[in-house]
Amino acid sequence: MLHLVLTLLLALVLQTSLGAVIPHNTLKKSCYLSKYRFPVFHETNAVLRMREKFVSTTGNGGLWAGQGHGRGDAEFKTLSDKVPDRVMLVKAELNLTTTMLELPAAPSFAKTRQQPLAFLTQVQNDLQCWMDTEAPSHEPSEKLSRWLSNLQTARETKTNSCLEASAIRHIFEVLNDLRCVAFEEQCN
Ligand SMILES: *[C@@H]1O[C@H](CO)[C@@H](O)[C@H](O)[C@H]1NC(C)=O
Repeated sequence: MLHLVLTLLLALVLQTSLGAVIPHNTLKKSCYLSKYRFPVFHETNAVLRMREKFVSTTGNGGLWAGQGHGRGDAEFKTLSDKVPDRVMLVKAELNLTTTMLELPAAPSFAKTRQQPLAFLTQVQNDLQCWMDTEAPSHEPSEKLSRWLSNLQTARETKTNSCLEASAIRHIFEVLNDLRCVAFEEQCN
């Protein structure tokens, strides 16, 4: 019994002293982004189902033919060549996406979007947590600032239905951007 108590004590002491030695980085596990490197089947599938439901509910078949202000993969990388800039960009995209997915909707669509909305909200929180811990005082590059301010203008001037259609149309591009962000410096 005494032996057990001693062992426990030793473990406690070791843990405490190790805790002081282990760099802060390895302890904050809550917002590591590497978990987003590979698409999770049930999440991707839920997004796909939601997108199909959106098209069939709104009859917005012209969704895919709309004005192509979609961003290519290359543009994402040139817009944001630093990891914190990329995180900010994806965070802004997700902010728009989740805001649009929170608008009032037909019950059948509201049900289909629940899972994607929960997933994208979680991602957004992880990105925010990453910014807070890894780059708390990061300022976006000039290019990214301009892009962010254009996005803000679009949010203020376009109708919700237009923004919603655009957000849903580009949702897989955003998920691609997220994958790149999750690879941090290795995404090039
Ligand atoms: C999302 O964007 C809006 C408008 O730009 C902003 O007011 C809000 O704080 C953002 N929300 C999050 C969670 O970042």
